[in-house]
Amino acid sequence: MELLKQRIQEQGKVLDGHVLKVDRFLNHQIDPNLMKEMGQAFADKFKEAGITKVVTIESSGIAPAVMAGLILDVPVIFARKKQSLTLKEDLLTTEITSYTKQETKEVYLSKKFLSKEDRVLIIDDFLAKGEAALGLCRLVEQSGAKVAGIGIVIEKAFQNGRKKLDEKGYHVYSLARIASLENNAVTFVDEAAC
Ligand code: G4P
Ligand code: NA
Ligand code: NA
Repeated sequence: MELLKQRIQEQGKVLDGHVLKVDRFLNHQIDPNLMKEMGQAFADKFKEAGITKVVTIESSGIAPAVMAGLILDVPVIFARKKQSLTLKEDLLTTEITSYTKQETKEVYLSKKFLSKEDRVLIIDDFLAKGEAALGLCRLVEQSGAKVAGIGIVIEKAFQNGRKKLDEKGYHVYSLARIASLENNAVTFVDEAAC
C-alpha cells in the first residue's frame, strides 16, 4: 500500500536497527484517514473469503481492525491482555510470548462471540516473530471457528513470523513489508521481485 509506505518513510523512526517507531499514525496518535484506507485494502483483499468476524488484539490492532470490520460489515472482537471486571463468562485463553518485551502474557476472548460457523479475519499492527498472530489463531481455533485470513499492517519480513504463518497454511496479507531496518533506514521488500 503506497500511502502507508510513504508515511513510514516520512514519519517512521528506526530504533536500534530493528524496531520501527510509528507513533505518529499507528501506535499512539492515530490517523483515521490512513486507517480507513487500510481497512479498505484489507476488505478488498478478503472480500471473497466469506468473513463473518474480525479478530484483533489490544491495543494497536483495534483501529485498523475496526475499519476493516466497518467495510466488510462484520463485528470486530479484540483479545484482551488483562482480565476485566465484567469478563467473567467462559473464556478462551492462550499464552503469548513477546520477544520484544521479553514477557509471556495470558490473553482472553469470550467464548460467546465466536462459533464454529465463523470465518475469521485476524488483523494486527505488526508481524515480527509471529507470536501474537499465532496466539490469535489458537484462540479462534479453540472456538471451532476458521481462520480465513490474516491481515497485517506492517510486516518485518526480516524476522521469522511470516514463515511460521505460511508453514501453517494461513493466508497472510501485509500492507507494507519491510526487508531491512539496517543503518536506521527503512527498505521495503521489492514486491515486483518476489
Ligand atoms: P510477534 O507478536 O510478531 O512475535 O512480535 P513481538 O512479540 O516482537 O511484538 C510484541 C509487541 O511489539 C506487539 O505489540 C507488536 O505489535 C510490537 N512490535 C514488534 N515489532 C515492532 C516494531 O518494530 N515497531 C513497533 N512499533 N511495534 C513492534 P503489543 O505489545 O501487542 O502492543 P500494542 O501496541 O498493540 O498495545
Ligand atoms: Na503493537
Ligand atoms: Na499488536
